[in-house]
Amino acid sequence: MATKSLLCVQMLLLTSIVFVVLGHEAVKSEQYPLVVSTWPFVEAVRAAWRAVDAGFSSVDAVIEGCSACEELRCDGTVGPGGSPDENGETTIDALVMDGATMEVGAVAAMRYVKDGIRAARLVMQHTKHTLLVGEKASAFAISMGLPGPTNLSSTESMEKWTKWKQNHCQPNFWKNVIPVNSCGPYHGKDSLKLSDRTCSEDSLLGNIESSSSHFSVNNHDTISMAVIDKGGHIAVGTSTNGATFKIPGRVGDGPIVGSSAYADDEVGACGATGDGDIMMRFLPCYQVVESMRLGMEPKLAAKDAISRIARKFPDFVGAVFAVNKNGEHAGACYGWTFQYSVRRPLMDDVKVVTVHPHSLP
Ligand SMILES: *[C@@H]1O[C@H](CO)[C@@H](O)[C@H](O)[C@H]1NC(C)=O
Repeated sequence: MATKSLLCVQMLLLTSIVFVVLGHEAVKSEQYPLVVSTWPFVEAVRAAWRAVDAGFSSVDAVIEGCSACEELRCDGTVGPGGSPDENGETTIDALVMDGATMEVGAVAAMRYVKDGIRAARLVMQHTKHTLLVGEKASAFAISMGLPGPTNLSSTESMEKWTKWKQNHCQPNFWKNVIPVNSCGPYHGKDSLKLSDRTCSEDSLLGNIESSSSHFSVNNHDTISMAVIDKGGHIAVGTSTNGATFKIPGRVGDGPIVGSSAYADDEVGACGATGDGDIMMRFLPCYQVVESMRLGMEPKLAAKDAISRIARKFPDFVGAVFAVNKNGEHAGACYGWTFQYSVRRPLMDDVKVVTVHPHSLP
């Protein structure tokens, strides 16, 4: 009995070793290196590809790719000059994660410094911290040699902001406040119950809820990129200037590890984009990677992560891509049509994959 089961175990081990070796060899020549990015950010993917194809590490390639997007100001929602907050200021959120070491560096609500992903990398490389925020993140980045202080506003962002002010600061991210249809300062409507409330204020309380979507096809909001290098090591990075007309101080999912991106050499990687305020409550990229760790295919893992959010927030808009360590990739989205870009060997150029939204399960 004991001998028999031992034999079984040995055979099982042998089979899995053969499978792994064969699988790895077959995959290695075609699937690596690999670059995947949210949206048709083709130039960013090309930049990352040039680095990883030349033998640089996955972390180096992610930095090159996301930097290219920051310089090009992809969609106006990455890098300087876009997404003004309520005060008209542009700030930067970025993250990098090394799936070989599980080290992370991130900056959030960083002011006056345009190089988000490079600042994130400096946090990862030269500190024992994970996340630096606001003005202190800017001071750190500048002290470590990045250019600044820089004016992150552009003519376009200032025009956008001026129009928004003229439109009574609509749309905005406030809820349950008074005044409803004009600029602040705002007051929580609950606090009014304690004070003497007039009839006119009372009638205002009725029409407060308005759910306008802040994210659209032209407001893609985040680059999230995954790279597998020639050694099979995986890294992810993100960069964004956040949500347009956000309340100053707001940090979205961009610099939150496990939300906008996650990577583990043992499993694979994930990138996310969309309504970050909602998505960060579910850590969708952590979910995707952990589901793949338990054996889910990338496609199912991506769909499952999105479904978990949609079931609780049927009005949310978002998407994820999933990549396993063999380089198999898939996407899932909800509320909008999602596109992600891929570059790997045996491809002439970057390919853009379109993913159609799936309905509520
Ligand atoms: C920053 O740049 C914007 C757009 O060019 C300009 O309107 C604004 O005055 C500048 N701010 C400062 C402090 O120079």
